[in-house]
Amino acid sequence: MTQTPVDTTVESDVVLAARGMTKLYGGVLALHDVDFDLRAGEVHAVVGENGAGKSTLIKCLSGGVRPDGGTIRIGGEEVSALSPTSAQDAGVAVVHQELSLFPALTVAENVLGARGTGGVLMNWRRTRRVAAETLARVGLDLDPRARLDQLPIGQQQLVEIARALFSGASVIILDEPTSSLSPDEVALLFAFVHELAEQGVAFVLITHFLEDVMAHADRITVLRNGLLVTCVERASVSKHDLVEAMIGDSSSVLQATYEGLRVTLPPPSEEPVALALRGIVLPPAVNDMTFDVRRGEVLGIYGDLAAGHAEAAEFVFGGGKPASGELLLDGVSTVLSSTTKARAHGIAFIPADRRDALALEQPITWNTSLAYLHRITGFFMRSSDERAHLAKWTEALRIRGVQPHKTAGALSGGNQQKVLFARWLEYPPKVMVVVEPTRGMDVGAKSDVVRIVRDVATKGTAVLLISSEPETVLTFSDRILVAHRGRIVREFANTQVSKNELMAAGHDMEST
Ligand SMILES: Nc1ncnc2c1ncn2[C@@H]1O[C@H](COP(=O)(O)OP(=O)(O)OP(=O)(O)O)[C@@H](O)[C@H]1O
Ligand SMILES: [Mg+2]
Repeated sequence: MTQTPVDTTVESDVVLAARGMTKLYGGVLALHDVDFDLRAGEVHAVVGENGAGKSTLIKCLSGGVRPDGGTIRIGGEEVSALSPTSAQDAGVAVVHQELSLFPALTVAENVLGARGTGGVLMNWRRTRRVAAETLARVGLDLDPRARLDQLPIGQQQLVEIARALFSGASVIILDEPTSSLSPDEVALLFAFVHELAEQGVAFVLITHFLEDVMAHADRITVLRNGLLVTCVERASVSKHDLVEAMIGDSSSVLQATYEGLRVTLPPPSEEPVALALRGIVLPPAVNDMTFDVRRGEVLGIYGDLAAGHAEAAEFVFGGGKPASGELLLDGVSTVLSSTTKARAHGIAFIPADRRDALALEQPITWNTSLAYLHRITGFFMRSSDERAHLAKWTEALRIRGVQPHKTAGALSGGNQQKVLFARWLEYPPKVMVVVEPTRGMDVGAKSDVVRIVRDVATKGTAVLLISSEPETVLTFSDRILVAHRGRIVREFANTQVSKNELMAAGHDMEST
């Protein structure tokens, strides 16, 4: 591919240029006349609220969807009818928001993909070795022969990132790459991003973590309702400016949620204990989990991916008999041998991976229909009008992009999560376990979800919130526990606590 020299240095740096990108989904404008440039060696962040059009933009640039209008030039050449394969051939690699790996294949197969090593005859030993080396570079010590679906979601995400980073692409698009990663893994990821950017690789970074945008981006494009709001140099804006550009008016509640780095926790609740774990052991992740959740309180447990708190949460939702220890519901020792049994005892569960809980190929109405709700929640719903239910929830949760026949899979990632929560609004359960409830959500949607969860607690539900994001734990919780290596190591109640204190308690135990 020979590139004709162009007049200005800035333009000759442009590796990808999109003009007038427009995408309609059945009459809904997901993207309208958006221009986007990417320069060699830059990290270009794309930010905006849930449903703003970020994923749609990058799908247009990588052949995932066909734009209804506009032009794309890659490496100076106009590309028409871009497909995922032709985008790949043009040097564009994507890590999608919803993982697109092959769960039943091994780690090695996923990392190297169709590329393999050694042409038609795959040399498996070499493939495994290259895969292991590749993974080691992003700090992952994994058996390349392990099946992907046996790994925790954070590790799956790293495998997908490793595949893109080492694909040799000149343009790498990362859609919410850090949502399941620990702080250490995030640091490692950005170190690689910068290393490759130095070598001229151009990055598109979609993330709702504005700290990461401010720390790592060179330029920032802001989208709102499918429109381009602005494209600015990072050095010329503050986080505050960004939030304002994203959400339009600067609501003080959102600002507080977003900028609230130090929170004041109230005195602990004296309501009866709804759920208690006593010395629970679940090898290998959980060594000794002991905690209480009281009626009407939100107990947040913070910890990294190896903390064991996510496994403890899954255990509560029908994990059966532990290796040792006991689970008590309203003071009664109980074995929840299946998810059905857990539901029958009034336990609700919102998993970290929303694809586990939503029927993505079914209409949104079906996902929130009463029959379906009954099947998954075990609660009978009296109301007769499903549409009215959905309408009410759509408004209460401010779910964007809902149309009667739309499938749940056609909603933006953040709005899918809201649909999951919609199930629990009408009849709050006894205990609600929520894992990473705001992953991939913007500040506005986050504060909606915080409000929803707090409402559920106000009605008497004991909420157990599990997260590896300190901000999430800080914004939701009445009381905070820190888990580390399968145990609770710290409690914060009736005190002030900051993000740094939380992270220090969860990660630097050896030094204390
Ligand atoms: N396949 C589809 N069919 C119909 N509508 C769609 C489809 N994909 C996306 N949309 C709609 O297009 C709009 C933009 O969605 P998009 O996924 O680009 O948002 P986003 O900015 O990535 O949001 P998030 O932060 O939640 O991931 C939304 O209203 C969404 O519902
Ligand atoms: Mg998206």
